[in-house]
Amino acid sequence: MSSLFDLTGKAAVVTGASSGLGADAALAYAQAGADVAIMARRVEKLNQVKKEIENTGRKVMAVGCDVTNEESVKAAVKQVLDSFGHIDILLNNAGIAVRGGVDSMTEEDWDKSFDTNVKGIFLMSKYIVPQMKERKYGKVVNIASVNAVIADKDDMFIRHSYNASKSAVLGLTKGMACSYAKFGITVNAIGPALFETEMTGGTLFKSEKFLQGYSMMNPTGRPGEKGELNGTVLYLSSDASSYVQGQFIVVDGGGAIV
Ligand SMILES: NC(=O)c1ccc[n+]([C@@H]2O[C@H](COP(=O)([O-])OP(=O)(O)OC[C@H]3O[C@@H](n4cnc5c(N)ncnc54)[C@H](OP(=O)(O)O)[C@@H]3O)[C@@H](O)[C@H]2O)c1
Repeated sequence: MSSLFDLTGKAAVVTGASSGLGADAALAYAQAGADVAIMARRVEKLNQVKKEIENTGRKVMAVGCDVTNEESVKAAVKQVLDSFGHIDILLNNAGIAVRGGVDSMTEEDWDKSFDTNVKGIFLMSKYIVPQMKERKYGKVVNIASVNAVIADKDDMFIRHSYNASKSAVLGLTKGMACSYAKFGITVNAIGPALFETEMTGGTLFKSEKFLQGYSMMNPTGRPGEKGELNGTVLYLSSDASSYVQGQFIVVDGGGAIV
């Protein structure tokens, strides 16, 4: 049974792995047997994450990459392919959450959200999917958000470009799943709710009011804890999900149950 989740011999790329959920997932991949290329813009932070992952004995590469920039993505993917020879798993996790509603935010912030959260997935996939197609194997996992389907109600934390860009990730996931299933590639998305990371630590986790409201409306009575996303990441990145296509799995302790 456990071999369904075994990633021995696989090579994974994780974007946005210099902190938070991406760093956690990269470690989980290595613990499951995969070699891992971790990517983000802050190389110093990536190197710290790399050190921790190296304790697993797997190969780890820290590759500086801005997912909004095609040349940067192209060069980063080439570096991984030159070293690992193949890429089996792509975890599109890099993301930003810009605060503001359409009546208050700048065009620049809107574009930044879509460039990172949506174009970043397009560019990474553009350079990684072709060799997955050739090898007739691939697992693409896109980190969306529960906020792709549920809007923030608290005026303090309105993030319209986040909602819209994460919804776009679901559409992209479905389109890619339909196109690439015949090449042995699965494409699925995950919708985390609240986890404490750099993205949320200084904002949502600083507000007692928000945390109390979140916990009260959540059947578990709490936010997600470190590592609680990894099971779903591993499931969608392994042969355990070989017949799962274009799905969106919400990991939220039941907060989005309607
Ligand atoms: N934490 C939550 O509660 C939560 C809930 C739902 C969804 N999510 C999603 O989970 C993903 C990870 O977020 P997190 O919570 O772990 O936040 P985080 O700690 O802030 O991580 C975000 C990561 O994205 C990277 N990144 C941002 N812009 C990038 C760019 N242009 N190119 C390359 N990397 C970039 C950052 O690295 P650099 O700054 O070094 O580039 C960082 O490693 C995001 O997609 C987020 O939307 C998080």
